Amino acid sequence: MNTMPKVLILYDSQTGNTEKMAEAVAEGARSIANVEVIVKYYARPEELTEASAIIFGSPTYYHDMTLPIKQMLEEAARVNIQLKDKIGAAFGSYGWSGEAPKLILEILKNRFGMKTIEPTQTAIYTPNQAKLEECRKLGRAVAEKIVT
Ligand SMILES: Cc1cc2nc3c(=O)[nH]c(=O)nc-3n(C[C@H](O)[C@H](O)[C@H](O)COP(=O)(O)O)c2cc1C
Repeated sequence: MNTMPKVLILYDSQTGNTEKMAEAVAEGARSIANVEVIVKYYARPEELTEASAIIFGSPTYYHDMTLPIKQMLEEAARVNIQLKDKIGAAFGSYGWSGEAPKLILEILKNRFGMKTIEPTQTAIYTPNQAKLEECRKLGRAVAEKIVT
């Protein structure tokens, strides 16, 4: 039986920039032993409850998170999924305003009662090596918090 605590990394990316960040976050989380790391675009509400930590990645389009991410959060809220006290974090690439990760973090904190990790990780367009290292650090920090 697999009883390792899970980190779920859920992201959207239209042109690959947030995807690069997601890969680095996952790499960081995987550097911690005894943590299962799952990276995907979509999870059903029940899958969210199985994770000990959920890290959302969304680029900013039209001053907002992207629709798939918004819909996933709304779907979870609609069925009143219990995520209280799970660890939550957010990241994303942007061009000029970059609202998405902060909006996500507010929802995780205020709507779902998650313990959020601040600050969010952001990159202007393509993440450089320093930004990718920050993303790895975020992944590591989250995984360290849930390992028993
Ligand atoms: C149609 C369109 C709308 C955008 N709107 C915003 C915006 O409101 N604020 C912002 O910071 N960046 C905006 N951007 C820039 C994207 O966030 C940026 O290109 C980002 O790197 C995309 O990440 P991705 O490769 O993960 O999709 C927009 C880009 C496009 C093409």
